Amino acid sequence: MQKRRIYKVRTSRNVNGKENNKDSLMKMAKRIYTLNEVFTPSRPALLTYIERQHVNKRFDRALNTPGKQVILYGYSGAGKTTMLTNKFRSDNIKSITTRCVNGMTLNDLVIDAFNQLEVYYKDTSEGTENKKNENGLSVSYFGLKASLNNENGTSNITTTRRAVELPITPQNLAKYMGTSGNCWVIEDFHKIETNEKTLMAQIMKVFMDSSVEFPSLRIIAIGAVNTAREVVQYDPEMRNRISEIEVPLMSNDDLKSIIKVGQGHLNINIPNSIVDKIVAYSSGLGAVTHQLAYLICEVNKISKTYNSPKAFEIDKLTFDEALDEYLAENSDSLKSVFEYSTRIIHKRKSENPTEIIKAILTTNKESVTIGEIIETIQLSDKKYKGNNLKKYVDELTLPTRAEILRYNEDSMSYYFSNPFIKAYFQCMLRNDVKKEIFSTKVLLKDFRETLNKELEVARRIFIKDFEVYD
Ligand SMILES: Nc1ncnc2c1ncn2[C@@H]1O[C@H](COP(=O)(O)OP(=O)(O)OP(=O)(O)O)[C@@H](O)[C@H]1O
Ligand SMILES: [Mg+2]
Repeated sequence: MQKRRIYKVRTSRNVNGKENNKDSLMKMAKRIYTLNEVFTPSRPALLTYIERQHVNKRFDRALNTPGKQVILYGYSGAGKTTMLTNKFRSDNIKSITTRCVNGMTLNDLVIDAFNQLEVYYKDTSEGTENKKNENGLSVSYFGLKASLNNENGTSNITTTRRAVELPITPQNLAKYMGTSGNCWVIEDFHKIETNEKTLMAQIMKVFMDSSVEFPSLRIIAIGAVNTAREVVQYDPEMRNRISEIEVPLMSNDDLKSIIKVGQGHLNINIPNSIVDKIVAYSSGLGAVTHQLAYLICEVNKISKTYNSPKAFEIDKLTFDEALDEYLAENSDSLKSVFEYSTRIIHKRKSENPTEIIKAILTTNKESVTIGEIIETIQLSDKKYKGNNLKKYVDELTLPTRAEILRYNEDSMSYYFSNPFIKAYFQCMLRNDVKKEIFSTKVLLKDFRETLNKELEVARRIFIKDFEVYD
């Protein structure tokens, strides 16, 4: 956990033995942080980074095992990138990141990594000897382009060629990456095609073999739940060579810690009643905690560390204003989540996403089993069997449907991933509105009321959860 840093100022005394006024004021001075450094809803947290020991330990172990490839997986917003960023900073690990987009092939990934490595080699040069590496490639210089340009006076007689013109193979990539001391981070791994993912096992094998020469070389693939399985399934032999690490949603205690650490940095005091609300509404998502905490500060005109010996007291009553801001800020993204998750790819009888979601909401329960959804759908479709329903409900937990549902393995039931999404869907489906007119005042009012009820439910569950721990 981050500690608040206080500048140590040596105090000087005047002839009367009293501390200089200026000195004593400076003694109180804290380091000033800006609000957007402290609460970071759309960036990896650094100042308020809360280390999750269990996951961190497993990640450390994997990084300390030469040749071990890593797959970090978990729901969107669980904190995968944040954990990686903080680890890389604390351990000075160099990396190249390739971000996947839908439809990318593994070949595209390898080319992207090559491009970023900026591997150059000397093509022709007078009077300089070109060393050959084992592959017979002319690679007298690789690594940063700068190192080539700095070559004493030879740059004018040297033509350089990007390594992209070299045979682009995973073997070459591993070599260059290893030599430059980088590891390869592949973000949003779930976005590449399934059959391409299976090829990943082969590339990981190449990287694993190269680790004899470069012990810290590895691939760290980051993706949604189940990404790991797809790689290992293809090549069971890789099972022991890949560390599959789940980054779970954040616990309520972790979320609380984000606020506590943040308020320390800003020298403010957020009342416990607000902290509890923020945590309850976040449903394990750090981004919601950061954003609500940020807005609470903004509403209270705190834009940087409050410069006073006494912490600024946040007024309890300002929470609602922050919540309104949150809704205004997020209404577009809620709208796109709605559209994305309910779009029809193949029309199905009684099993289109909207019908499934309606059935879940009709049960009026916090979490529902497949059996309960089937029973509800049968109310309007008597002959409905629901043999394939599980597959379609599971789809709603995936990034392809904006992860609007979560699955609880213990109770084998599904629930909405957060109260904001649930309330929005409730409102949209109850009103059966065309999405375009949702921004009208009436509907927004309805959303706000529905949301209040949902938030109240979330808060009750939160309090109950805490009772269990007590
Ligand atoms: N351990 C943590 N301590 C404090 N804040 C965190 C922590 N982990 C995540 N956050 C915050 O939560 C938000 C989401 O984190 P992050 O982007 O790392 O998630 P992710 O799992 O990479 O999501 P995605 O799959 O969508 O890329 C960010 O605002 C980040 O600042
Ligand atoms: Mg991420």
